Amino acid sequence: MSERSPATDCAQALHAIDPVTGAIVPPLHAGTTFARDRDYQPIGGRIYGRDEIPTVEPAERLLTRLEAGADALLLSSGMAAATAVFRALVRPGDHVVAQDVMYFAMRAWLVRFAADWNVALDLVDTSRPDALSAAVRPGQTRIVWIETPANPTWSVADIAASAAVAHGAGARLVVDSTAATPVHTRPIEHGADLVMHSATKYLNGHGDVLAGALVTARIDDAWRALRAHRRDDGGCLGPFEAWLLLRGMRTLFARVERQSASALELARRLERVAGVRVLYPGLPSHPGHEVARRQMRGGFGGMLSIQVDGGRDAALAVARRLEVFVRATSLGGVESLVEHRHTAEGAQTISPPDLLRLSIGLEDVEDLWRDLEQALAARR
Ligand SMILES: Cc1ncc(COP(=O)(O)O)c(C=O)c1O
Repeated sequence: MSERSPATDCAQALHAIDPVTGAIVPPLHAGTTFARDRDYQPIGGRIYGRDEIPTVEPAERLLTRLEAGADALLLSSGMAAATAVFRALVRPGDHVVAQDVMYFAMRAWLVRFAADWNVALDLVDTSRPDALSAAVRPGQTRIVWIETPANPTWSVADIAASAAVAHGAGARLVVDSTAATPVHTRPIEHGADLVMHSATKYLNGHGDVLAGALVTARIDDAWRALRAHRRDDGGCLGPFEAWLLLRGMRTLFARVERQSASALELARRLERVAGVRVLYPGLPSHPGHEVARRQMRGGFGGMLSIQVDGGRDAALAVARRLEVFVRATSLGGVESLVEHRHTAEGAQTISPPDLLRLSIGLEDVEDLWRDLEQALAARR
């Protein structure tokens, strides 16, 4: 039979039928240590749970398949996955280029890491390939880090163009693909070396697991260093979280396709509301639309932001009036969330004060629209 589509493999968790019981759901093994036989050989090939938890492996295999990669690692959070890349692959004296607008906590961590470890860091607008070309230092740049679409403006970086620049300088391209999800973008097919996800978001999708993921294009020394880093730093994922994550991933395509369709519909309607600017890569008015059309398949994701006339107070007043959207941080879950990033990020914020970030869930899109409409109408 010809190769199945990723959506089929996802729904069936790679046709996971437990060979022992015939159950169509993978078992949950809680054990953290594994027995040896009398000749002191590991009975099941495993020794200890920090990097050999059986329940983690089916989720890693599925992720490898979804991203068309060579291997995957799950870690205890998205931040654990992202920071592992720098801790394992960057040394004092190296140079790193990252995006100037990206997930705030990651940006703040990277600035601190670079200062503490004598790593040269340039934060550039990676939606402009010329800015990236000007920033890389051949032979010294180790990592080029992009997030696309990027929090909270959903700016779009061209993965293939970024990969060409990174590789030309002898660096690796790492893509935080949390918002795009493997449903819409497979960065490895565009030349990325590593893909990172906050699996807390769309991959799990139900707001009940913290997890992070790395997927590699090839198994090389860097990948072996990352695997050793997870084992030795101990940022591994627990079996219960991995089991829940795999259960969540089985509905990934159905969730994301619906969330993207609703987000596009809401973005189009919001664009017609006076005094509201919409940031959504699926709209022709978005500066990243053309690149997004090229590298995103089947939709533009479930995340959008609006900027409202009247600044911070007006944005907070809209958030206060929303009744269906839940006021909470995070994204990619089944329920719609609204967040005033400027408040959430604190004193060092990089988010405009008039911006509200919307994570579109699985509710009836008409309920979401009515909620936004009444909250925005009350401004006038
Ligand atoms: C784009 C992106 N990357 C990374 C992270 C960090 O993930 P986690 O919260 O799972 O540590 C987040 C969390 O909001 C995110 O939105």
